Amino acid sequence: MRHMLNPLDFSVEEIDQLLSLASDIEHNLPQYAHVCDGKKLATLFYEPSTRTRLSFESAMLSLGGSVLGFSSADSSSAAKGESVSDTIRAISCYADIAAMRHPKEGSALVASQMSSIPVINAGDGGHQHPTQTLTDLLTIRSLTGRLNNMTIGLCGDLKFGRTVHSLINAMVRYPDIRFVLIAPDELRVPSYIREDVLNANHVRFKEVNNLDEAMPELDILYMTRVQKERFFNEEDYIRLKDCYILDKKKMKLAKENMYVLHPLPRVNEISTEVDSDPRAAYFKQVQYGVYVRMALIMTLLEVEKPC
Ligand code: CP
Repeated sequence: MRHMLNPLDFSVEEIDQLLSLASDIEHNLPQYAHVCDGKKLATLFYEPSTRTRLSFESAMLSLGGSVLGFSSADSSSAAKGESVSDTIRAISCYADIAAMRHPKEGSALVASQMSSIPVINAGDGGHQHPTQTLTDLLTIRSLTGRLNNMTIGLCGDLKFGRTVHSLINAMVRYPDIRFVLIAPDELRVPSYIREDVLNANHVRFKEVNNLDEAMPELDILYMTRVQKERFFNEEDYIRLKDCYILDKKKMKLAKENMYVLHPLPRVNEISTEVDSDPRAAYFKQVQYGVYVRMALIMTLLEVEKPC
């Protein structure tokens, strides 16, 4: 039995297979309508979510399976003090696979150790968000035709942003990837990402404060939200929340074939005037998130691709 806790749980070859399956699903959706008949997905969300929870549910329903779960800690027995370990042991009796989001780093790992069904990490605190990364990889590969030889700008909250940490972890395994890390000093990537991931893999990167100066060299711009829920001090959040706002003027500085991604939700960091720019790919990204989660559910449940 396999889990998906971290993008590195799958080799590059396995990720490529999964993305190819997701692309096949995109182009032949009706063929997959019954491959998970009789299977159940549990969504255990201790933290708010729109896209991740609903895209998992949409994915399982599109595969012919069914879904059950909770969407907040308050509506589960966590409110009575139940541990994640006990919850997953109970859920293992009800479902065939579980997707779990939790505010504490490492919680999905703890769940996987007590689970008798595959566990998918749907975001654990500021740590990892591997299915967002699979979504990002599928989006980049579908739009550009490659996952190598590109300059990726990561902008915003690079300290607490689990989508950024997961994406860096995944992309360093592809050849000729360069990163421009665009953040205020207080929200730079954690040192373990800098040392243990970027430097350890000899990946070229630079850390800058200025988005305008970085724009012309980027093939992908990955914008992120400054996350109010990760700050201990509201004053710091208010000071930093609007540090980068992507607008039409900034888009004029970018390559014609650069794409803007964002895991969403956005607050102010991308002006809505950018939405109509053909390079704005963040709502396409949402759609790719369903196909890639369908492919992941099939892979972890060892469901055969239809003939
Ligand atoms: N991208 C993402 O994780 O969005 P939600 O918080 O809405 O699930």
